[in-house]
Amino acid sequence: MKHIGLLTSGGDAPGMNAAIRAVVRSAIYNGLKVTGIERGYAGLLCEELRPMDLASVGGIINRGGTILQSSRSPEFRTSEGQKKAVDILKRNGIDGLIVIGGDGSFHGADVLYREWGVPTVGIPGSIDNDIACTDYSIGFDTAVNTALDIIDKLRDTADSHERIFVVEVMGREKGCIALQVGLSGGAEAILMPEVDYSLEKIAQRLRAGYKRGKLSSIIVVAEGACSAVEVASGIGKLTGFETRVSVLGHVQRGGSPTALDRILASRFGAAAVTALMNGDYGCMVGIISDQVVCNKLNCAWEQEKKIDIADYHLAEILAI
Ligand code: ADP
Ligand code: F6P
Repeated sequence: MKHIGLLTSGGDAPGMNAAIRAVVRSAIYNGLKVTGIERGYAGLLCEELRPMDLASVGGIINRGGTILQSSRSPEFRTSEGQKKAVDILKRNGIDGLIVIGGDGSFHGADVLYREWGVPTVGIPGSIDNDIACTDYSIGFDTAVNTALDIIDKLRDTADSHERIFVVEVMGREKGCIALQVGLSGGAEAILMPEVDYSLEKIAQRLRAGYKRGKLSSIIVVAEGACSAVEVASGIGKLTGFETRVSVLGHVQRGGSPTALDRILASRFGAAAVTALMNGDYGCMVGIISDQVVCNKLNCAWEQEKKIDIADYHLAEILAI
């Protein structure tokens, strides 16, 4: 293992640059050469390569986004596309590939290893935190804190006008962002794909809160559960309260990564280089109970990403 390739793929996440920095610096420290691949698998198929030296990753640990850019590439899902990618890697003398991305990107890295024999290692990077075999993926903590800051601001105007705000957060099919934002934001209700909910019961709780003097209420909705607009309409009809909607969208994907995400990314980047050097191919790094681990890539989707249902019930109790 003398020359590694590195790419970022799928939805970008704050902290990906810190991971890029860690891969490049620890690889060079260990005597390896690093080539950055621009625009994820799409850029690989166009042979968009960028030599990475120590200076190439200076001043990026604090920057959101990814200096290598990212993409979603339907062509790479085909065996013709994959063969083209393998030929490009071989032609450029790249011995192994580190993929920073979500479970979709990990499927690509897994196919490259299992079907094409390319040594690959995945670094979990997705604000959704929907990747199993790791407690956290890069970007999740930053996205939660970004959404939380907005909810704190919304609480001000909600109190001023005695309104209910329904806030829609990202997370694709999971409620990981919604749960942590809801608990830390003191939301009166959290709607997520993993837990059934009743608008009637939520309306009852909102009325009870109003009766005991609450000026406002916040309902956090995971995009995979339902539409904030529909929830606001239903709650408005059931309670008679004024409701407003805020769909946070892609603001959750940007911003300077938190210290936690920078540290996570740094640990993951170094561990991914070590995995390639140790021959742990077709694997993903992760963190379990604050220990960095290395599992087979298919662990990311073959195991179910669990949410902490105790936190869900705690949020309900503390918002009465
Ligand atoms: P994320 O990594 O954030 O989940 P996507 O699901 O969009 O993002 O996947 C990113 C890219 O990974 C896709 O555009 C595609 O190029 C590649 N990919 C996803 N699933 C597969 C698959 N089953 N086989 C090969 N490549 C895949
Ligand atoms: O996977 C990260 C994510 O931000 C999801 O939470 C969201 O549903 C999706 O990407 C949005 O995709 P795009 O950036 O292609 O609009």
